[in-house]
Amino acid sequence: MRRLNKLIQSPAYQASLAKTAAMEKERVYCKHGFDHLLAVARIAYAYLLERKNTDYPREIVYAAALLHDLGRWVEYQSGEDHASAGARLAEPLLQAGGFDGRESALIVTAIKEHRRKGEKDVSPLGEALALADDWSRECRDCGAQNTCHKFSPTMLELWY
Ligand SMILES: [Fe+2]
Ligand SMILES: [Fe+2]
Repeated sequence: MRRLNKLIQSPAYQASLAKTAAMEKERVYCKHGFDHLLAVARIAYAYLLERKNTDYPREIVYAAALLHDLGRWVEYQSGEDHASAGARLAEPLLQAGGFDGRESALIVTAIKEHRRKGEKDVSPLGEALALADDWSRECRDCGAQNTCHKFSPTMLELWY
């Protein structure tokens, strides 16, 4: 995880997280800080392991998860979908962090796909991110259940 540790400490990564945090200050729904990103990483990795999918080393799964909502602040600012904005922002960070072209392509593809839950042509890593994204949410004690588009009674069940 050496490359990933370097990446998450980089000023560019930290700056994106800080912009999102500033724009989500008044948000009543789930926020997209590091706690969310790390929860998605752990759940997505467990999900892939359980399915005996060994195509993605842990560092690749964690990289995709820790970068998947990087474009949130762009969406708040311009309306551009955060999955594509995040994929664009992630690419130079991955390159600077020492990920090669093949690794970077797997990660960037999964970031682009992370809102396409249940669609057929999504990569296994993209699917894992999309599922983990929902399963990472703690809806039980949330005061915004009634107006949240993500909320359904199944969100109160245990997943991972
Ligand atoms: Fe997202
Ligand atoms: Fe997310």
